Amino acid sequence: MFKFLTILTWCLALSLTIAQDAPNVPTGDVITLSLSSSEAQATASATSTNTPIVTATRNGKAGIGWPSQEKDASPVIQFFTPNSTVSWWFDWTKNWNQGVLNSDGVEIDGQFVPMLFGVDYLNNFDTFQDGMTELMGYNEPDLKSNTGVSVYLEPSQAAEKWKTQIIQIRQQYPNIKIHSPVMASNKTWLLEFFKSICPDDSASDGWGNCEYKPDYVSAHLYTTDMNYFKGTLIEFQKDFGIPLVLSEFACHKFGSDPHPSLEEVSTFMEETMTWLDQQEWVVKYAWFGVSRDPQWLFGVYETNRLMATDGSLTSLGKQYMNGGKKIS
Ligand SMILES: *[C@@H]1O[C@H](CO)[C@@H](O)[C@H](O)[C@H]1NC(C)=O
Ligand SMILES: *[C@@H]1O[C@H](CO)[C@@H](O)[C@H](O)[C@H]1NC(C)=O
Repeated sequence: MFKFLTILTWCLALSLTIAQDAPNVPTGDVITLSLSSSEAQATASATSTNTPIVTATRNGKAGIGWPSQEKDASPVIQFFTPNSTVSWWFDWTKNWNQGVLNSDGVEIDGQFVPMLFGVDYLNNFDTFQDGMTELMGYNEPDLKSNTGVSVYLEPSQAAEKWKTQIIQIRQQYPNIKIHSPVMASNKTWLLEFFKSICPDDSASDGWGNCEYKPDYVSAHLYTTDMNYFKGTLIEFQKDFGIPLVLSEFACHKFGSDPHPSLEEVSTFMEETMTWLDQQEWVVKYAWFGVSRDPQWLFGVYETNRLMATDGSLTSLGKQYMNGGKKIS
C-alpha cells in the first residue's frame, strides 16, 4: 500500500506539474489550459443540448475516480447512463477541465467533486470547478515519500494550513460539504489532525460546533476480506464521529499480492456495496480501478477493472452501475 500510494501521489503531482509547464504539453491541451473554467463550461454547454454539466441528479452513493492522466474525460460518460446507480465522479484535481484532462464537449449527468490535493493547491494555477458544492480534502499527507514531489506533513502543520483554508473556502462557497484529508493508512495522523483543528471537542460529540471541522471523514481501504472491511470502517467512523466517505476501495491487498479471481472480486463488490448502501453514516464511496492504461491502476490487481484497456466497460463495471448486484 505504501509503495502504491507513494507512486500514485507522485504521478498525480507530476501530471499537475506537467500541466503547469505549458511548453511540454501537446497543443490540444494548451488550448484547454488557456480556458478559464467558466469558458470551458460555456464551450462544453455550447456543444450540447442536454442537462447542465455539474448537476447531481442522482442520489446513489457510488462514484468513479477517473485519473486525470487519462487526459480525456469522455470514457467516464459510460457510467452515467439513465439506469445507472453511479452518481458522482472525481479526478484528484480541482477542476474537471484543467488542462491535463480534456473535457471539451463532455457532458456527464452526475456530480463532479473537486479535490484540494495538497496544502499548496488552494491558490495555484487551477481554479475550482464552477458550481462546486462539495470538496475532497488533502490526499494522503501521511505518506512519507522520498520522491521529492509529494510532501509529508505533520498533522499539526497540515492543521494550521487547513484552518485558514477551510474558512476561506466556506466564505466563498457557504453551503459546501467538505471531506477531511484522507490517509494512505495512518489513522493516528488523522486523529491528531482533528485534535489540532478542534482541540475543545471530540468525536463523541461530532466535534461540536468547531468551525474548522470537515463535514465528512474520508477513508481509503484495500482488502479482500469482507469482515475486515466492515470492522475497519465501523471502527473508523466511531473514532471520528461524523459521516464517512470511502473514496478508494477495491478487492485488493497491498504487500501480500493476492490475485483474486473475477468471481471473487464480483462477490466482494456485491457484498461491500450492499453493506455500504445500508449504512446511514456512509455518504459516498468510489471503487478504485477505472482507467484504460494499466499503469493508472498503480498495482491494484487487474480483476478490479471497471473499464477494459480499450475503454469499454467490463462486466464488473456494469455490475457497479447495477448497484453492485451481479448481472446474470
Ligand atoms: C502515524 O502518524 C503519527 C502522527 O504523525 C506518527 O507519529 C507515526 O509515526 C505515524 N506512523 C507511521 C507508521 O508512519
Ligand atoms: C441499462 O440500459 C442499457 C441499455 O438499455 C442496458 O444495455 C444495460 O444492461 C442496462 N444496465 C443496467 C445496469 O440495468
